[in-house]
Amino acid sequence: MKIAILGGDGFCGWPTALHLSDQGHEVHIIDNLSRRWIDTELGVQSLTPMDSIQERCRIWKQETGKVIGFHLLDLAKEYERLRQWLAEEAPDAIVHFAEQRAAPYSMKSDRHKVYTVNNNVNATHNLLTAMVETGIDAHLVHLGTMGVYGYSSVGAPIPEGYLDVEIDTPTGKKGQEILYPTRPGSVYHMTKSLDQILFQFYAQNDGLRITDLHQGIVWGTHTDQTRRHPQLINRFDYDGDYGTVLNRFLIQAAIGYPLTVHGTGGQTRAFIHLQDTVRCVELALSDAPAAGARVKIFNQMTETHRVRDLAEMVAKMTGAEIAFLPNPRKEAAENDLIVKNDNFLALGLNPITLEEGLLDEVVEVARKFAHRIDRKRVPAVSAWTKDIAGRVETDPEGKRLKSVS
Ligand SMILES: NC(=O)c1ccc[n+]([C@@H]2O[C@H](COP(=O)([O-])OP(=O)(O)OC[C@H]3O[C@@H](n4cnc5c(N)ncnc54)[C@H](O)[C@@H]3O)[C@@H](O)[C@H]2O)c1
Repeated sequence: MKIAILGGDGFCGWPTALHLSDQGHEVHIIDNLSRRWIDTELGVQSLTPMDSIQERCRIWKQETGKVIGFHLLDLAKEYERLRQWLAEEAPDAIVHFAEQRAAPYSMKSDRHKVYTVNNNVNATHNLLTAMVETGIDAHLVHLGTMGVYGYSSVGAPIPEGYLDVEIDTPTGKKGQEILYPTRPGSVYHMTKSLDQILFQFYAQNDGLRITDLHQGIVWGTHTDQTRRHPQLINRFDYDGDYGTVLNRFLIQAAIGYPLTVHGTGGQTRAFIHLQDTVRCVELALSDAPAAGARVKIFNQMTETHRVRDLAEMVAKMTGAEIAFLPNPRKEAAENDLIVKNDNFLALGLNPITLEEGLLDEVVEVARKFAHRIDRKRVPAVSAWTKDIAGRVETDPEGKRLKSVS
């Protein structure tokens, strides 16, 4: 297949591009490199030294003989160029990773909220309308998030996107299937909830074939392909805005920083290893819905864990200390989470779990590149409301040291 990977310079997009190229697909990356600019804005860098996207593609060709094309294009702002590219290249499939994906970044200030909404909603809508306009028959696979469901303790397993409900009508109860009601917990999650409505409309109105993957928190850094050459190494975010919880605990342990647990750490979240992310995208691509069918929704996660249990597990493994800090987010202190992921299991996913030794690999990577870490960027300081901002702990390490002396 000819596959366009939108956001292919990112943490999930790059290893997915390599995985699909390795399987013999013709892969084209489209990215505006905004994530690299955001690193500059925040004064951070990937823990791992990333080469330019052109250099990474050159190394991949040198190692495998396979070509990955790179196209510098802003999906949210360059509609005409996007439409033209789709018309000329007519990809068979499009994998859409290209959004601002950090909840803390989306809550930093009004400007960051505006940017996240403009970028994410326009990128997705531009893509959908360009697909209709050009008449290409591509299967769109989008990376959504488990966060659209919200994290209240419903008690029942979260189904894959749809919920059967009964509605009282004048002639009695009627069954209906609805999109599972969204309950976004940040502006970022809100944009992913809006994406769902855009997909529903374009599938129903124009017969676009769409799969929406509600992904859990991704951990790990290497995949089979990124291990092949030091310059194919993947991005690894450790900072308080973009770093994801388990990867952050592992780098904190590696550099002797206290593991920063927010509140009681009673939040339960869904997780997936990066190697399973790329495998899930491959499986989703092989199972496209028919034109006119409803949007196919998969829960792309393999296990759920409570945050404090993860911290305790990493502390036990590495001897790290745990620091319980005021929570910068507005969320339930404790929640349960039961999630269905039957669709991917039925397609043959054999989940990688936390027990499989890959935690050590992340700690090793973190130790190797520890000199690149700016400890001041480790705490999460983006507060969800002005009230919460006053309580955020900006220097857990300093406080710990002071209290010891
Ligand atoms: N990383 C996770 O834990 C996680 C969990 C759930 C869902 N997801 C979803 O997966 C997708 C990829 O996540 P990631 O961690 O790889 O993020 P990332 O920030 O590393 O990568 C996103 C890429 O998209 C590009 N991009 C953003 N806006 C663009 C635009 N307007 N035009 C062109 N390119 C643009 C960025 O430059 C970046 O390279 C996101 O949509 C995210 O919501 C990620």
